[in-house]
Amino acid sequence: MIMIRNIKREIEVKESEDGSPTLFVPELDEHYHSTKGALTESMHVFINAGLLCNDAHQLRILEIGFGTGLNAFLTAKYAYGKDVFYHGLEKYPLEMSVINQLISCDLYNDIEKEQFRELHQSAWGESYLWRPHFNMLKQEVDLLTVTLLGDYDLVFFDAFAPDKQPEMWSLDVFSKLFSALKPGGVLTTYCAKGEVRRTMMACGFAVERLPGPPGKRQMMRATKPM
Ligand SMILES: C[S@@+](CC[C@H](N)C(=O)[O-])C[C@H]1O[C@@H](n2cnc3c(N)ncnc32)[C@H](O)[C@@H]1O
Repeated sequence: MIMIRNIKREIEVKESEDGSPTLFVPELDEHYHSTKGALTESMHVFINAGLLCNDAHQLRILEIGFGTGLNAFLTAKYAYGKDVFYHGLEKYPLEMSVINQLISCDLYNDIEKEQFRELHQSAWGESYLWRPHFNMLKQEVDLLTVTLLGDYDLVFFDAFAPDKQPEMWSLDVFSKLFSALKPGGVLTTYCAKGEVRRTMMACGFAVERLPGPPGKRQMMRATKPM
């Protein structure tokens, strides 16, 4: 049993098929990432279909749920000198013991392990410069009740799957995210379910289905029209 900040929940570190680690939550019967490749999925959905498709020099990124910090870590690695403000929302912050287990694999070198530690040891609710050109704000909040100030260029929507946490994929949530994006702003997610696509479209998003990462035929990219 591992402590996740305020709650006790069983959580296991697992190796995904590309050799990168992920977490498994038996209570939900759900992984934090694709078992076909955690790193591969994050690169495909959030970095290649999100970050690298935006050529603005300054980016404001919102992540729904921050979790292991993998998407923030990859964003810093592939931002190539852009000025990034990265806002990660998380209802259940992970304890450092989980993070230490997660990064103990050979995949990360010592510098990268230290970057992960810094990311997780930093205070919640305070904006700070994590890396050059990369401002980080982790917020311990519930997406369902938080008020978002807006003006984001990108939303990385990385909630647990709709069948595990349907309330995260509702009209209210996507309306909130639609309002929080700039015109032309983009939300990417690994999910390609028809019902979710229709919900996004009902909020005003223009939705594309793109080829998915290994193990998933498709993913979605939703754009707020100009
Ligand atoms: C699929 S995991 C992805 C985590 C993360 N993006 C990563 O790469 O490790 C979903 C995350 O959403 C968080 N979460 C669940 N319900 C939430 C809520 N109501 N508000 C904010 N975050 C939530 C979970 O605790 C978990 O960290």
